[in-house]
Amino acid sequence: MAKFRKRVFMQALPILLLALYLASCGKSDQQNSSQPKVEVFSWWTSGSEAAALNTVFEAFRQQHPEIELVNSAIAGGGGSAARPVLQTRLVGNNPPDTWQTHPGAEVLSQYVASGFVASLADLYKEERWYDVMPKTLIDMISKDGQPYMVVLNVHRSNELWYNKKVLAQHGITVGATMSFEEFFKIAERLQQQGVTPLAVGDAGIWATGIMFENTLVGVIGPQRYLGLWNGSTSFEEASVKEAMRIYGRLLDYQNTDHAALSWDQAVKKMTEGTCAFMAMGDWAYGELTNMGLQDNVDFGWVSHPGTDSAFVLVSDGFVLAKEAPHPQQARELLRMMGMKSAQEIFNQRKGSICARLDCDRTKFSSYLNWSMDSFAQDAIVPTIIHGSAAPADFQQALNDALTTFVVERNVEQFAQALAQAARMSGFGK
Ligand code: GAL
Repeated sequence: MAKFRKRVFMQALPILLLALYLASCGKSDQQNSSQPKVEVFSWWTSGSEAAALNTVFEAFRQQHPEIELVNSAIAGGGGSAARPVLQTRLVGNNPPDTWQTHPGAEVLSQYVASGFVASLADLYKEERWYDVMPKTLIDMISKDGQPYMVVLNVHRSNELWYNKKVLAQHGITVGATMSFEEFFKIAERLQQQGVTPLAVGDAGIWATGIMFENTLVGVIGPQRYLGLWNGSTSFEEASVKEAMRIYGRLLDYQNTDHAALSWDQAVKKMTEGTCAFMAMGDWAYGELTNMGLQDNVDFGWVSHPGTDSAFVLVSDGFVLAKEAPHPQQARELLRMMGMKSAQEIFNQRKGSICARLDCDRTKFSSYLNWSMDSFAQDAIVPTIIHGSAAPADFQQALNDALTTFVVERNVEQFAQALAQAARMSGFGK
């Protein structure tokens, strides 16, 4: 009998050990919650993105050498690959301590409304952030008077970047502003001389989406663009269709390998001179300076046609998970992200301006000073592509409609798809 029991025990032992191991894996996060670490989830993996994030990490390590930083960044510009992973983790009740998100619809409808994040009101009060953050941003991250995100930066998303040497070789100069017709004239000339006018890297559809949203703002103007989100402008009105047609014309001037390239590979293509222009937010500027290139020497910039009095806002920040395994440590990291010194260093690397209004302008380059002026005086409009203007289901519908449009170029179908998506999301007419 004893022999029999021993045999059964020996046979069951591997299964028992495996079960114990699996149980310990599942629980490891909760069990280690007293360990001083903080998990940071983002999509900042390009050269400049990673370097910028690292400036915050370095400053944090200096202040808190006892806290381990776990960098859970997932590659894919615009968060195209990171956000689905994050969603799965949140639904599975396995959140990172803190994650990157955008103000407006993204943070409020995806994370605040679902109860995934904690209020940061006490941090805002302790650090007096209400005195130094612009009200526009505070409103975009607050619900019922509670702020839910520490805003780290402000990107201007409506620029055309250009290779100065390539343009000079072809006798082309760009002024302070550029109309669509001026762009098309230059593009024709470049194409005839064997230079691809536009560098695009839309391995993720969002990158061509930037070109569409900027064209939309440029053609219908900031006020009518804002009206798209409250139903006073229809996606089927003539000016929106005109923007779609112009966007289609822009596509005719892009590089043939655009679908195989990431956004930062397209920046590189422009710097190498095989393409002259690139339509991209100023995280491209971060990439350009990260390569050691100089403002107004190696490259120049101009507002996307028609948008010189607009600032298409793409801003990044971090939230605190309601069920954060390491809430105290995460709060300390968030505190650091809101500090003036951290924002000054981070933003110089990232190609963005501080979310705080009290940063020292003399520390920033000529482009970033130009962006600060634009932020202060131009019409600020939220991005669709980066989640601020409309909820995720509309953003997805736009991505789908764009994917069809770039192949079929059917303006009527594109307009109908967006109008229907807006109605489904509850803001369209
Ligand atoms: C945006 C983000 C920017 C930039 C870009 C490309 O969503 O706000 O900071 O990194 O993606 O990855």
